[in-house]
Amino acid sequence: MNRFSKLGYVLAVAGSAVGLGNAWKFPYVVGNNGGSAFVLLYLGICLVVGIPIFLGELSIGKLSESDSVNAFSKLTDKFKGFWKAVGFTSVLTGYIIACYYVVVIGWVLYYIFMALGGFGDISMVANSASFSEAFDTSKGVFISFLTQNWLMQTLCFFAVLAGCVFIVSRGIIGGIERLNTYMMPSLFILLLVMLAYSISASSGGFSEAARFLLVPNFSKINFNSFLEALGLAFFTMSLGIAVIITYSASLNDNANFLRSTFSVVGINILLAIMMGLIIFTFIFEFNAPPAQGPGLVFMSLPLLFAKMGSVVGTLMGVGFFVALLFAGVTSAISIIEPFTFFLVRNYNISRAKALCILGAGMVIIGLASLLSNVSGVGEHYQIFGMGFLDFLDYVASKILMPLCGIGAAIFVGFVIKRDGLELLFLPHMPKAVFEIWYICIRFIAPACVIAVMINALWPR
Ligand code: PFF
Repeated sequence: MNRFSKLGYVLAVAGSAVGLGNAWKFPYVVGNNGGSAFVLLYLGICLVVGIPIFLGELSIGKLSESDSVNAFSKLTDKFKGFWKAVGFTSVLTGYIIACYYVVVIGWVLYYIFMALGGFGDISMVANSASFSEAFDTSKGVFISFLTQNWLMQTLCFFAVLAGCVFIVSRGIIGGIERLNTYMMPSLFILLLVMLAYSISASSGGFSEAARFLLVPNFSKINFNSFLEALGLAFFTMSLGIAVIITYSASLNDNANFLRSTFSVVGINILLAIMMGLIIFTFIFEFNAPPAQGPGLVFMSLPLLFAKMGSVVGTLMGVGFFVALLFAGVTSAISIIEPFTFFLVRNYNISRAKALCILGAGMVIIGLASLLSNVSGVGEHYQIFGMGFLDFLDYVASKILMPLCGIGAAIFVGFVIKRDGLELLFLPHMPKAVFEIWYICIRFIAPACVIAVMINALWPR
């Protein structure tokens, strides 16, 4: 069986975790929740809920060394059918996310071309009009791309999909590990350069951003922030959808599980904070409001790059969106891999054949979500008043991900024998840490996730 090297595993899982979520979701959720105190809350939740579930999924993958659908049922004799259904749901959830996630990476690809062309219309108004007028133009460019330019969106979607499918077809070592070995360090270096630029070029924006993100102000924290932080931790750590289970099935026996887990979580948080610092430096430098919703990346940043002048702005813009493309692609391949692994293992077919089947489905569902934003088309197939893409995101991230996360936590906490877990983990962690983890995975993590779900399904 093909196995990741120790470093390859950390890079691949970090590649999965660090994605579009870090760049657009993390900054805007932090912005909407008042900044630094929320970051602390997020860190606390990563520690108490995220890491325990991560280790739980790792143990399911490692003990079963199987694809996620059969991993659960391989480890128990009771209710096999039920656990198989849990495994299948998590694989399917990942697949649903992959379909629209690739569409959004397509938007990032388009913004690389926009940056190369100096941001067109946006650069015309960047310096002449007032900030709010310029922002309206930038917003208009994004909205008209989404609602009218279906052809460009489709081309970008196919380009990204073809790239991702090609990488996954090369397998764990030749494709996924190799890609991450290049892309993750490149992403880090690109972000470092951008951060250095933000620090040197800003006149006060950087220190304001650092204060906003790093000096706690607890007055904005409420119960809802707690739940938001939990949802963010789930999404950014790629939990609940078979990714960690699948990658861990190919984890080397001699890897140190606890160290690998902390490395991944550390890298994920570090990159989210770096992206946050870069984005908020621009925001504060130009006096833009920090709480703007998901538009931060696609509406504010292009405007801010355009304001930086044609050479620097183009370089920074291309650099940023290329970094985001890398981050998105490494996440997308991690979401496509579990279903591929399942089909290859279960039906004994080649990777190429499995990917043809999955790719065909992704084209259909991906195009349906892409067209759901196009005016004159998307209105015809709304579900519960939501566009198809938003509906998929709602069902996958607010319902299926947490459900599968609870399933994994309960399975590890109450179904897998404790002896097996001790045998797996005690060589890698002190007994006291094991005991704390065991309490978290049995009680604290499921309780918190149920709270998220209640919040998601009955928004106040
Ligand atoms: N963690 C990725 C991000 O933050 O963009 C998104 C993601 C990847 C979600 C893999 C779920 C997943 F299984």
